[in-house]
Amino acid sequence: MSVRPPSATLPSATTSSPQPPRKKVTIQALHALRASKTPITMITAYDYPTALTCSSSRLTDITLVGDSLAQVALGYASTTQLTLSEMIHHIKAVARGTTHPLLIADMPFGTYHESVEEAVRNAVKMVREGGVEGVKLEGGTEIVDVVQKLTRVGIPVMAHVGLLPQRHISLSGYKVQGRSTESAKKVLRDALALQEAGAFAMVVEAVPKELGRYITDALRIPTIGIGAGPGTSGQVLVLDDIMGTWSGHKAKFVRRFADLKTIRDNGVQNYNEAVRNGSFPNPEAESYSMDAAEWVKFVESGTHGN
Ligand code: KIV
Repeated sequence: MSVRPPSATLPSATTSSPQPPRKKVTIQALHALRASKTPITMITAYDYPTALTCSSSRLTDITLVGDSLAQVALGYASTTQLTLSEMIHHIKAVARGTTHPLLIADMPFGTYHESVEEAVRNAVKMVREGGVEGVKLEGGTEIVDVVQKLTRVGIPVMAHVGLLPQRHISLSGYKVQGRSTESAKKVLRDALALQEAGAFAMVVEAVPKELGRYITDALRIPTIGIGAGPGTSGQVLVLDDIMGTWSGHKAKFVRRFADLKTIRDNGVQNYNEAVRNGSFPNPEAESYSMDAAEWVKFVESGTHGN
């Protein structure tokens, strides 16, 4: 079969780049990027090929196994349906394809809410079994004790404030947060509390651009915005939004950087047509042949294989 592991001398993530591979991105490196006002880039990945895609650019700082995995790769209606074992299965594949980017994964809905002990147990599983280097948690002041404990036991935590997709039902949908004074104050309070609890960075999702910048200026740790305007320390997008392969809703903050869906669908159609009209496979270029004498011997030897 043609599906063989990439050759050790031809790592598919780096062959097209003339530059040497980038060193592993550390939390310290992210803080240095923030200090030098170099925007941090984070992209989601859900399996081995998408992890290779993220690692193919030296500029990718963080690969996130987002729980958007639920909708994008598993066809669920909501992130709340994703289980811990499904997440770990996918983290393992992403870890196998990740080179220099720091590897972070979302703790799935319901895996860090019952007790601090349960949160630690589940995060340890994600690190030990999955190979993730840090976890991301959605929430505000109510998860401060979990963030504190995880940080203390040595599991780096990326916080996530603003729009919390895991709470889309209690938020009555995927709505922009922080548009009123009260709501903006709440997002800021959450961000400050999570920083004090030990979070090393923070995703800020779907807030007005003014608030995205204000929170970034108020914190010592990097903010990674998604729908939070250009004033955050970095940006994150879902890979399928970047590639144009996601056919669901397109949020206002999404920019498509490629149209792979059209290319992909054309590829499938072209293959199907070539099979149907008999032009694939080509008998010379795409087929094996047998030595003529061996073939004659085979035919003359009878047709029952003995
Ligand atoms: O699940 C996800 O993909 C995310 C980001 C896009 C921030 O949480």
